[in-house]
Amino acid sequence: MNSKFQILLTGVGSYLPKKKISNNDLEKFMDTSDEWIRKRTGIKFRHFVEDNELTSDMGTNAAELAIFNAGLKPKDIDLIILATTTPDNTFPSTASKIQRNLGCKAISFDVQAVCAGFIYAISIGVAMLKDTHGKKCLVIGADSMSKILDWNDRSTSVLFGDGAGAVVLEKKNVINKTVENNQWGVLVSKIFTNGEYYDLLSTDGGVSKNKSTGFLRMNGKEIFKHAVEKLSSSLLMCLEECNMNINDLDWLIPHQANQRIINAVSNKVKIPQDKIISTISNHGNTSAASIPLALDVATKKGNIKNGDILALQAIGGGLSWGSLILKIGNPN
Ligand code: ACO
Repeated sequence: MNSKFQILLTGVGSYLPKKKISNNDLEKFMDTSDEWIRKRTGIKFRHFVEDNELTSDMGTNAAELAIFNAGLKPKDIDLIILATTTPDNTFPSTASKIQRNLGCKAISFDVQAVCAGFIYAISIGVAMLKDTHGKKCLVIGADSMSKILDWNDRSTSVLFGDGAGAVVLEKKNVINKTVENNQWGVLVSKIFTNGEYYDLLSTDGGVSKNKSTGFLRMNGKEIFKHAVEKLSSSLLMCLEECNMNINDLDWLIPHQANQRIINAVSNKVKIPQDKIISTISNHGNTSAASIPLALDVATKKGNIKNGDILALQAIGGGLSWGSLILKIGNPN
């Protein structure tokens, strides 16, 4: 990326619903155990929204914090891209509701790429900023997965949680203030779809199919194999395009679906565990929210510093997947 503009990530925020549910809580109403869930997935807790708490409420809370942390006001935002699988309404977009809640006039729309939605939304945001659709873009991942879980299906319902995370992307001309080739912001992103695998992870209902929302259904073993292969290959492609190798990364923030998937990718691409940010034990799989939630937790802990090189990666229904590499923060 040698353009004279760079797309910097300047703020992050997140939100978790108050209701925190442990594996032991699940044991009380379904045939499962804390031991099974922890061993197979690494998950200990997840948060669930209340009936009257909406995806837009969580997204708005995360967005306000990201905007504040970027040192901006909502009126500064030109674009809002929300990655979600669980919109408030079939239409209009939940991003429009968040725009109304924030009180700004940004171009606002939703992106549907399930658990890969946040990587897709960042890629679209970067392209739109480069293509002169504004200078400041809010990218949000927010999902209320608890509302599409079938509590009679123990193989899926124990895996997911609710939450939201958001980042601010800013288009800045920083070329004169940095040494040549010292690129900041989003350096590369690679996103992919293969509809051959549409049925591996989907809902059993939909508006045009049967006028319903449906429940989440998944072939866990097949998804597991695709996840390890596709997360690894897309990350290696990004590194190659940036002329980097795995040792150049300060942090890997993978989609938080299953600790065993994260460990398998870590072994395959040979990145040490202590460079991987995992929040799966406390959040479960929050779909499009999982990466910005983990990024915010690590930032608050002081683990991620201005100028660190991060790789983000996710896979979800579609199948849709992708990775990106960024140098976080601001060179000024
Ligand atoms: N509690 C107790 N037992 C359970 C549960 C549960 N919640 N769920 C399934 N079991 C039982 C099964 O009935 C089966 O019993 P049986 O041997 O008597 O038939 C046994 O556990 C093993 O089931 P498997 O499905 O073979 O378990 P597996 O080891 O494949 O683990 C899991 C299942 C955790 C879903 C795994 O396949 C997985 O993680 N897949 C990846 C998918 C994923 O993470 N998806 C998230 C969304 S997609 C994404 O974001 C990447």
